[in-house]
Amino acid sequence: MQNVTFFGAGYVGLTTAAHVAGTHKVVVYDPDEVKRTAIEAVLEGDTDHLYIHEAGLVELLRKNKRNIHPTSTLDEALEKPELIILAVGTPSIPETGHANLKYLVEAAQAIGSHLLHDAVVLVKSTVPPGTSSMLDDVLFEQLGIAGSPARVAVGACPEFLAEGTAMADLRTPYRVVVGLDDPQAQREVHRFFRTMYGEGTILMTDVASAELSKHASNAMLATRITFVNDLARLCEAVGADIKAVTRAMGMDPRIGSKFLNAGFGYGGSCFPKDTRALATFARGLHVPLPIVEAAIAGNEVATERFTQNILASYNGDLTGEQFVLWGVGFKAGTDDLRDSRAVEVMRTLLERGATVHVYDPVAGARRNLEEDFESALGHHLFTYDSQYGMAPLVDHPSIIIGNEDNQFRSVDVAPFGSVRTVFDGKNVLSAEEVLALQEAGVQYHGVGRGTLTGSASRPDLVAYLRHHYMDG
Ligand SMILES: NC(=O)c1ccc[n+]([C@@H]2O[C@H](COP(=O)([O-])OP(=O)(O)OC[C@H]3O[C@@H](n4cnc5c(N)ncnc54)[C@H](O)[C@@H]3O)[C@@H](O)[C@H]2O)c1
Repeated sequence: MQNVTFFGAGYVGLTTAAHVAGTHKVVVYDPDEVKRTAIEAVLEGDTDHLYIHEAGLVELLRKNKRNIHPTSTLDEALEKPELIILAVGTPSIPETGHANLKYLVEAAQAIGSHLLHDAVVLVKSTVPPGTSSMLDDVLFEQLGIAGSPARVAVGACPEFLAEGTAMADLRTPYRVVVGLDDPQAQREVHRFFRTMYGEGTILMTDVASAELSKHASNAMLATRITFVNDLARLCEAVGADIKAVTRAMGMDPRIGSKFLNAGFGYGGSCFPKDTRALATFARGLHVPLPIVEAAIAGNEVATERFTQNILASYNGDLTGEQFVLWGVGFKAGTDDLRDSRAVEVMRTLLERGATVHVYDPVAGARRNLEEDFESALGHHLFTYDSQYGMAPLVDHPSIIIGNEDNQFRSVDVAPFGSVRTVFDGKNVLSAEEVLALQEAGVQYHGVGRGTLTGSASRPDLVAYLRHHYMDG
């Protein structure tokens, strides 16, 4: 068993710490005392409520509580660890899109001024290549200033978990990527992960490759989504169904079926910021990445188009109109609203004078929304703790499906009396569901479901082909 200290008790730090505590002694350091107190309360069994929502996290923290010590004190955090894992935030700098590395530098400075023994430091935060080397310099300098005898090896170990499935992702990751130059540190870290995951999933690389592998993976996934969203527009134009097209594509093992679901754009705390960070980083080095740049721009188009569809359906005037929004977390099962497309759409509706009634099964998502939109709450924005709770209070509303929670896979019109339109931002309704709605007089707008919405004219297509597709 090793002593491991995590810096950062957020979505990545706390979930990973809870998992690692099944095998090792873990200290979770976060300067935010509110978080420490909340973790302590959960460990003591005083509450089930944490400041983040991730299914299974509270249970795992309690199960491994003997091995977990939360702290806001650096002396405690750095008393024993042979391994220090940095999981602090690297948010976008709004003006430039660069990943903000200041929290990592602060963490490195804090470690350098308190650590008295040798340790390995792994950067789990998502960072551009070169960051671990920069932090190595910061640590070296700070240890020198503090007169510490400690020697530290710094490497990269990017995290690939996804919110909503974090606990399962941590139990059985597709891969554990470690970039380290120091041979002894390589051996120690390899042993550390081997005890948890076995040999097969561990990939040891150089530092820069490990760092880049995370940005590259997220950019690839984001590009797939934008590619499919672009195709969805074509499906609408030709009267095809993007779901059928992607099903056919996904049956090819070279393509695979995952991440081919069209929708109103990707959101969350990773894809938007990481694609932007990668593109900005590469541009700064005069190696532009036009495909990644296009994926970023295309994502904005996907959301705008969805919003425009709503506006067009109301002839541009939403004053006094009523909307029901199911799902505000950027995906199902999370309270994380960072860059949530559903929230973006909702913001436009509110700005245009509509009233929005929101339900999300994750209580934390509703709470975060209430905090972020405090001034609209109770006026034009209302939240509910049941899916149909708003039904008696609204008259002929439109429903917007904002994430892919299973509860949203069917729509019961009866509690509402009547529903004007369903705008399905994630294409969660099956063709059968849509047909049933249409039979009940409800309009349907998905993304790229031209077969169901009948937006294309077959004769026009045929005329287009006849006119342009034969010479002579
Ligand atoms: N959220 C995800 O799904 C996910 C997945 C993979 C990778 N990542 C990456 O992991 C990193 C962390 O993301 P997150 O979502 O957990 O962020 P988060 O905002 O939830 O948590 C970051 C935590 O770091 C703490 N912190 C700030 N400065 C600190 C310091 N000097 N010392 C110790 N703690 C400090 C903050 O108080 C906060 O609790 C980011 O780089 C992110 O891109 C996130």
